Amino acid sequence: MMNEKKWESIMDAPIIKVKPPGPLSSKMLEEQDRFETASRSYTKIFRTALDYGKNATVVDVDGNVFIDLFAGVSVINMGHGNPDVINAIQKQTEKLTHITEVPTESRISFLKTLDSTLPGKMRGKSKIFTTVTGGDACELAIQLARFVTGKKVIVAFGGSYHGIAGNIVSATANSHYREYSGNDYLNTYHLPYPYPYRFPHDVEPEEMSKIVAENLENLIIDPYSGTGGIAGVIVEPVQGEGGYIVPPKNFLPLLREITQKHNVPLIVDEVQTGMGRTGKIWATEHAGITPDIITISKSVGGGIPISMIAYDEEYDRDLPAGFHLGTYRANPLGLAAGNVIFQKLKHEEFMKEIRNKGNLIIESLRKLETESRFIGDVRGLGLMVGVEFVKDRKTKEPNGDLAQRIKTEMFNRGVLIHTCGHYANVIRFMPPLTIEESLLRKAMNIFSEVVVKLSKD
Ligand SMILES: Cc1ncc(COP(=O)(O)O)c(C=O)c1O
Repeated sequence: MMNEKKWESIMDAPIIKVKPPGPLSSKMLEEQDRFETASRSYTKIFRTALDYGKNATVVDVDGNVFIDLFAGVSVINMGHGNPDVINAIQKQTEKLTHITEVPTESRISFLKTLDSTLPGKMRGKSKIFTTVTGGDACELAIQLARFVTGKKVIVAFGGSYHGIAGNIVSATANSHYREYSGNDYLNTYHLPYPYPYRFPHDVEPEEMSKIVAENLENLIIDPYSGTGGIAGVIVEPVQGEGGYIVPPKNFLPLLREITQKHNVPLIVDEVQTGMGRTGKIWATEHAGITPDIITISKSVGGGIPISMIAYDEEYDRDLPAGFHLGTYRANPLGLAAGNVIFQKLKHEEFMKEIRNKGNLIIESLRKLETESRFIGDVRGLGLMVGVEFVKDRKTKEPNGDLAQRIKTEMFNRGVLIHTCGHYANVIRFMPPLTIEESLLRKAMNIFSEVVVKLSKD
């Protein structure tokens, strides 16, 4: 890969010169409080103000250096300040920074490159529709499914997160977002996700998928199922906000089989799992299926907010102009970045490194299982790894309090890490995919120390 030899994380990290937030950070946090909404959440977790980033490290204004296992919620997959990404953005900045849908060279190159990566049989047979955020892409995806089927009800899954703006908030499983948005729970039906650690039936994982799939088929075919017909199924191939849950291998193939049999669009939400996060460009590839629609966002713009869906070109036939209209239909800067990012993701060697680093995390967590009785489950795919904390391994009572304390202690020691899960009791590992193995090992050692220490308290 081009320039990257000279570009690396600050390898001495973490360096805590002053307990965060230091004096300069505290002042900036206060100023932010004065002007920005009190409903911010990330500034409650990461109490600092940042100056710059270098690959998997960020430096705060007080000179503290943090290891970043968070990547801005999986947006900075290529690392902070990746020279090739920055170079592409800079070059495009000098040419044109916004012009709606009118083609530019960066747009055409991006479209060709994206198409060449699409999973299964989508390649060469798909259309791209650009939007701005992940939620926006999911909103468009369900809108398209409703348009092509003429039906209304979307099937989503417990634990899912697809965004909060507009109708999509009904598909997101955490109901408090809906309460805040003031939207009614509308035209959506949630089936349980085959969450091997917490499935309502005590059966083998593959059996869980079958149960869910049979229920789905019943919803589709039974005129008295209560749904009145299904417009689409939206699913995360690995659940993100729901707890980094890897479903059994047969889950997506079964969903595909049933939706195909009954002509129901299958939407695979790759907003968090896509762009190499799971050790393949798309998590869908692990299942070997062809979705009808995929949603793409987060790291695709290298930090410039762009998103899109790729969908079966057949759906394009009757789509009117102005369907899901907007001023921002993919910024040229983000498209230029995306083009470079996809070129990097196409290297199988890079994918192998991602999988190896994911295995390193899993191995470290499995060792830790013997040292902390509060670890209930360890799971992951590629560099999307979660560890679920419980109060008791037998009862599986969630231990959100411990997970939150671990997060805070990690921050104090100079590692940015975040939680997720139904009970906010899962610590998730989502570093930049470019993190150096030695830095990752260091971060895992710190994590082990923290978990062992807090497990004794
Ligand atoms: C799977 C998935 N879909 C959709 C979204 C929503 O994306 P955004 O926050 O950009 O609206 C997220 C955000 O984390 C996500 O993880």
